[in-house]
Amino acid sequence: MNNFKFYNPVKIIFGKGQIAELANEVPKGARVLMTYGGGSIKKNGVYDQVLAALSNNTVVEFGGIEPNPHYETLMKAVKLGQEQNIDFILSVGGGSVLDGTKFIAAAMKFEHGDPWKLLSEKATYKATAAVPFGAVLTLPATGSEMNSGAVITRVETKEKLSFGSPFTFPRFSVLDPETCFTLPPRQISNGIADAFTHVMEQYLTYPVNAPLQDRIAEGILLTLIEEGPKVLKNPSDYDAMANFMWSATMALNGLISTGVPADWATHMIGHELTALHGIDHARTLAIVLPSLLRYKSEAKKEKLLQYGERIWNITEGNEAERIEATVQATVNFFESLEIPTKLKDYDVNRDTIKEIVDRFQKRGVKNLGERADIQAEDVEKILEMSL
Ligand code: NZQ
Ligand code: ZN
Repeated sequence: MNNFKFYNPVKIIFGKGQIAELANEVPKGARVLMTYGGGSIKKNGVYDQVLAALSNNTVVEFGGIEPNPHYETLMKAVKLGQEQNIDFILSVGGGSVLDGTKFIAAAMKFEHGDPWKLLSEKATYKATAAVPFGAVLTLPATGSEMNSGAVITRVETKEKLSFGSPFTFPRFSVLDPETCFTLPPRQISNGIADAFTHVMEQYLTYPVNAPLQDRIAEGILLTLIEEGPKVLKNPSDYDAMANFMWSATMALNGLISTGVPADWATHMIGHELTALHGIDHARTLAIVLPSLLRYKSEAKKEKLLQYGERIWNITEGNEAERIEATVQATVNFFESLEIPTKLKDYDVNRDTIKEIVDRFQKRGVKNLGERADIQAEDVEKILEMSL
């Protein structure tokens, strides 16, 4: 096992009726900026529950944070937060609202000009402070509720970049599965595929003799495979939603990446497909991951065979056959969620592949993957396999 440091200070408040706990978690007397998205929280009662719990605080609202949150929108919230002397932010919604909130929180305290530098020049400009914030999560998918990362889109330049810092962990996250009963099937499918791929990017690398991390990762994958379809069939199934929600959180809170290599190339490539074509985040992963596994099947051989056997019961055939059957099982799983896995399904062609390769070269993106051996030309080949 590799050496590691593990730090995760996020308090999770899980279960039915737990939004009321905000009254105890949000600092007394704090002036609260409540951030939210396009209005789903007003249709499912979450908005009313939050305001009831915050009846003793001054609440300033900032709605309209879009999926793949826009820097341009978030900067308006930064201005509002500064004008209103906000001292706590509460994110109410999915991963986009929460990622946007992490950016707002860090940007409000940024002292070196344009806060976009936190993403575009992250080697130089790191967050050194942030306004404290918490979350009410309404969409199991990203794990943002229990990690310190965020992904922000700049519309003007069609860039989608990430940042993170020890200051951008939520103080707490309220996870009430009942808030997710109104999710449309597309968002449930996306959430399952996103969480699944988070586990895969931390598990499907090479063995370092870390059986506990492997088995936790496999436990999350098996739970997603088992519970995901139940949620899709009946989004009001509390137990299935609870199991899905906790799985998505556990998939990206740092626990399964302790002491093991991580890949993340699928996410890096996927972000470009969202930035250029607006394809839902999870769908980009379902396009890239199978091709990346095939392209890197030699380097990932041992873990692919383990994953195939333990997750999909693939034990017949020679190694090459088992690996192909394993990747195909993964494709079938994504497609069973009604997520198409080919670029042509999204009207994306070779021009986009060229553009992504160009962007990586210009930005100096290189050495991706757990062995730091995926270069721009490999990205081109991986994407061509997804055409
Ligand atoms: O905007 P509203 O009206 O709230 O509607 C949202 C949005 O249209 C809707 N929704 C959310 N909760 C709902 C609901 N509709 C009905 N009932 C509910 N309970 O769902 C739509 C999508 O929401 P969004 O927040 O965009 O989805 P998700 O949670 O999948 O977040 C995706 C974003 O997170 C980033 C992605 O790149 C993308 O920008 N990620 C963040 C990560 C992190 N911070 O660690 C890791 C991930 O890999 C990912 O990159
Ligand atoms: Zn993701």
